[in-house]
Amino acid sequence: MLRKRSPLVICGALIFVVNVFFIFVLMRRPSTQGALDSPDESGKTGDGGKFGNIMNEVMRVANAFEAELESQKKILMQIQGHWAVWENKGGVTAAKPKSQAEHSALAVIPILVIACNRVTVKRCLDKLIEHRPSAELYPIIVSQDCGHAETSDVIASYGSQLTHIKQPDLSDVSVPSQHKKFQGYYKISRHYRWALNQVFNTFSYSSVVVVEDDLEVSPDFFEYFRAVHPILQSDPTLWCVSAWNDNGREGFVDPGKANLLYRTDFFPGLGWMLTKDLWAELEPKWPSSFWDDWMRHPDQRRDRSCIRPEISRTLTFGRKGVSLGQFYDKYLRFIKLNSEFVPFTKMDLSYLEKKKYDESFEREVYGAPVVTVEDLQSGKLSGSGPFRVQYSSPDSFKTQARSLGVMDDLKSGVPRAGYRGVVSFLLRGKRVYLAPPAGWSQYDPSWS
Ligand code: UD1
Ligand code: MN
Repeated sequence: MLRKRSPLVICGALIFVVNVFFIFVLMRRPSTQGALDSPDESGKTGDGGKFGNIMNEVMRVANAFEAELESQKKILMQIQGHWAVWENKGGVTAAKPKSQAEHSALAVIPILVIACNRVTVKRCLDKLIEHRPSAELYPIIVSQDCGHAETSDVIASYGSQLTHIKQPDLSDVSVPSQHKKFQGYYKISRHYRWALNQVFNTFSYSSVVVVEDDLEVSPDFFEYFRAVHPILQSDPTLWCVSAWNDNGREGFVDPGKANLLYRTDFFPGLGWMLTKDLWAELEPKWPSSFWDDWMRHPDQRRDRSCIRPEISRTLTFGRKGVSLGQFYDKYLRFIKLNSEFVPFTKMDLSYLEKKKYDESFEREVYGAPVVTVEDLQSGKLSGSGPFRVQYSSPDSFKTQARSLGVMDDLKSGVPRAGYRGVVSFLLRGKRVYLAPPAGWSQYDPSWS
């Protein structure tokens, strides 16, 4: 992509020309013991030999050059005061006017880590700190529930690398008797409400990325959220950005498409960003339990979508959690973590804009030939696809999803990772869309 030459580049070029001219003038000047020579150097060249003279001259020019570079560096720094430089893991890449950069590049995006009683929070924190490009731009706040001393010690051992806060109410939540076994979910909900209020009301941040203590982040985790942050802030049809692909198992995602992002109607959680405005909307009605499924209800979602990646930017290692290990052993542990760094902030992500996205999405999905699960499994289909498998009832969705190997549950009618009812994944190297008939207009929340 061609980029307009920035004024910073032009300034640099100008200074370079002046520089060359300066050296040229210096070289032509007769050698004198000028102010640039140190007494030490003049002593060493006292024998007056030809080689000594040349060395002397070279040193003198080098010193003058260094002094000139220093002063030019100062000028450049002043110019940078007016031009914010977009810096990230890939190095300084482009200069943008400050007003624009303040929105996209310089926003502070805090990371809220939700912790309780697992000392393995260390794995989560180590990876966050390892991949964090800047402590100023990504302050880490660890909110701890449960009052577990050992876990508290682990968190405290990070010192000033993070802020450690503690949820003060450790009492049991009173729950309906048939929900006694769900006490954990009530505590999680209470903790989330308190911690998000801290982030937005006490610390006054305008957005946050929520990470649970059993998540490990990818090398480009920060890069991803920074790039999508301005889109989330400006697009009212989006309400979250998630690091998670519910169908992101090895073999079901395209390893050559680590840069691919999607819109999804299913709230994925598991490393997700929200804005202060969304929190102001949700907080007054925040539920006493099962907060993530509550988010998936149409009353909360209100037809808004999340951005999610082809390949997950988080991995969950929390086998022993509140919901126990079954789901973990069957699905979660197979979700692949992205390993290659994708420079999202340097990429054109305008394809995610709703109108553009929906148009190419419709064309791509409904332009694909309809095939059966058997066709796909027989291996007789040639080419890389895409192919479309159609469903028209919750049952046909579930049966086909199960035989294709993708998640078969529906929440308020929305399939995991789905967009407009469509689930996109790879099967034997071919792109497959598990899709409702053309002309889809809305979800049926009674499908479950
Ligand atoms: C599952 C979800 C999780 C969601 C939770 C609530 C997955 C993989 N996980 O939790 O995203 O938040 O349901 O619906 O889908 N915690 C507390 N206080 C407690 C107990 C736990 O704050 O008393 C914290 C944990 O530190 C962790 C989070 O809550 O950060 C989730 O707990 P976990 O034990 O991992 O439960 P899951 O079954 O994974
Ligand atoms: Mn968990």
